[in-house]
Amino acid sequence: MGNKPTEQFAWYDNMRQTSPVRYDSETEVWEFFRYQDVFKALMTPAVFSSDIHQNRTANQEDKLSRLLGMTLLFQDGESHRTLRKITQPDFQPRFIDSRESIIVDVVDELLDRLQEKKPMDLVRDFAFPLPVKVISRWLGINEGDEKLFHDWMTELFGVPLNTLRTRENSKEQEQAIARRNRVVFDMQQYFSSYFFYYRNHRDASVISHMVNSAALDEEGLLAYTLLLFIAGHITTTRLLSSTLLLLSERDHDRWQIKQEESWGSKFLEETLRYWSPVQLVVREIREVVQMDNIEIQPGSHVVLWLGSANRDPAQFVSPDTFNVNRDFSGVLAFGIGNHYCLGAPLARREATIGLTHFLRRYPEYQVQDYVFPDRKRLIFFGPSELNAVML
Ligand code: HEM
Repeated sequence: MGNKPTEQFAWYDNMRQTSPVRYDSETEVWEFFRYQDVFKALMTPAVFSSDIHQNRTANQEDKLSRLLGMTLLFQDGESHRTLRKITQPDFQPRFIDSRESIIVDVVDELLDRLQEKKPMDLVRDFAFPLPVKVISRWLGINEGDEKLFHDWMTELFGVPLNTLRTRENSKEQEQAIARRNRVVFDMQQYFSSYFFYYRNHRDASVISHMVNSAALDEEGLLAYTLLLFIAGHITTTRLLSSTLLLLSERDHDRWQIKQEESWGSKFLEETLRYWSPVQLVVREIREVVQMDNIEIQPGSHVVLWLGSANRDPAQFVSPDTFNVNRDFSGVLAFGIGNHYCLGAPLARREATIGLTHFLRRYPEYQVQDYVFPDRKRLIFFGPSELNAVML
């Protein structure tokens, strides 16, 4: 059996007790670990700005950072609101209801194919392709290009690139940026043909809505599409793979879900808290901040550890215990405030349908081995490989 990187949670625990507000000289960022501090920062966007790319000169050549910097995720105020409004209707629960068959079809197609897979990796064969195919159909692109998407994502996120550094880029970073730029170029070519197509063919897909919005030029379209494509699957893959691993070790919960499917939704909520798929978000400080007799200067970057906030005993009773019956209010897995995850209703629906259909078909699955990404601190938490047998 593999090892779970639980030392990350032990580290949070230690930091919350010894230095809940600290400066990391290696990455040159501040870090917040307590629930109350993370919450307050997320709820005070005028001081804790999402526009973290504005004042940085390093990594200018990194096209992905530049493009993502243009998206709603990294904008404040009016420009954030304008961008968010463009696709908000595409991710509302009512719209998801009307297109739920997309998710059901994708899940069932994948489950049909699982039988033939031996040996089977539930990440490669289920947790990864599910959200990729769903977000592709939501966007209106050909989900058959899944292998291509997988290669792109591995190239873009397979390198430990520190996009926060302000120092001179190292040779290694420069090479990584050059590789990422090549992928971004390929993605640009790929998506441009869809932008062209949807200018003349309106339908219910997100790209169709976006190309017909006056607020986006060609570069804005590409940036938005990349954000939705990336945000729409890495995170949900992690949620699904974590859920399948945690559930495989909890016979009681597995039995409960068989009795009442709503137990599955609670299991997902607890997974979101316990192994938050996104462990951190970053903000840039706009005015002097005083905390614990520490003064933080404007222009500083702060890592807000959502994964630590979600394990803070000041907020959650026995936070290191996986408890499906706890009160989930206040969990920060999807953030909070004006940048609250746009895709949360879609992610929850995909994960719920994925889990319930999976269990109906393979109630006795067993995980035999698993692998977590080999990093000191995981930003996207969850297993990257789940070797299983379907009994
Ligand atoms: C389990 C799955 C997911 C998790 C844990 C997750 C987590 C998050 C978090 C923590 C944020 C807040 C970022 C911040 O405050 O800076 C966020 C924002 C966002 N997410 Fe998700 N996400 C998930 C799935 C999705 C999906 C399926 C989509 C769909 C396309 C999506 C699209 C977005 C977008 C567009 C934003 C930016 C919202 C804004 O800035 O107003 N996410 N997500």
